[in-house]
Amino acid sequence: MLEVHGLQVCYGAIQAVRQVDLEVQQGELVTLLGANGAGKSTTLLSIAGALKSSGGRVCFEGEDITGISPEQIVRRGLVMVPETRDVFADLTVKENLRLGAYIRRHDLVGFRKDIEWIEELFPILINREEQAAGTLSGGEQQMLVIARALMSRPRLLLLDEPSLGLAPTIVEQIFRMIEKLRQSGLTILLVEQNASQALRSADRAYVLSLGTVAAAGRAEDIASSSDLRAIYLGA
Ligand SMILES: Nc1ncnc2c1ncn2[C@@H]1O[C@H](COP(=O)(O)OP(=O)(O)O)[C@@H](O)[C@H]1O
Ligand SMILES: [Mg+2]
Repeated sequence: MLEVHGLQVCYGAIQAVRQVDLEVQQGELVTLLGANGAGKSTTLLSIAGALKSSGGRVCFEGEDITGISPEQIVRRGLVMVPETRDVFADLTVKENLRLGAYIRRHDLVGFRKDIEWIEELFPILINREEQAAGTLSGGEQQMLVIARALMSRPRLLLLDEPSLGLAPTIVEQIFRMIEKLRQSGLTILLVEQNASQALRSADRAYVLSLGTVAAAGRAEDIASSSDLRAIYLGA
């Protein structure tokens, strides 16, 4: 579904992503791990079209999407939830969700159906639809930005550190929700610092180090490699 070949991304003179090759098959949950600064966010942002690459190719569902606009990429069904977790603070939860459905804003029946689906997936958001998003807790805001992304009905979801800075019980809820999404057939590329949790949920994993893929394999194999854990994952 997603193929990334020889991706390179620079910030001025700094090459944050040197050589990234990865693929995600339809229906998979793949996790991208690595220390702070390894280039995980840069990789996701570049796949989503938010950062221009300086080399390499990104293909989605068999088509080359390298260099096309983020909006075009969203319309094709590839949607990213950045680690910045930005809700529209002054808008209500429902209004935030409506904006997520913007690209299919004339589909009112679909919108209502999706709201019901969202309420099932994110019980935490029930009864909060009229509340200003800025007044939600960190965990609730994280749920909302994921829910908002789902309103555009992605086929591939890129999640950047959804558990960052959240309390352990909320982290567990987030991972349970990610597993539910995956069971519903959504394909997911998940960036995480929380390697143990991510490896428990994922089918396969890539480990990034200094902008290159240092290791790749089945999640259970990566999880059981004590060398990998010690060198790259700090665990
Ligand atoms: N906006 C930016 N300007 C300059 N350098 C950046 C910027 N964003 C990230 N970097 C650098 O690029 C490298 C990779 O960063 P990032 O992709 O955010 O890593 P990760 O998400 O794995 O923590 C780091 O060295 C970081 O300092
Ligand atoms: Mg990051």
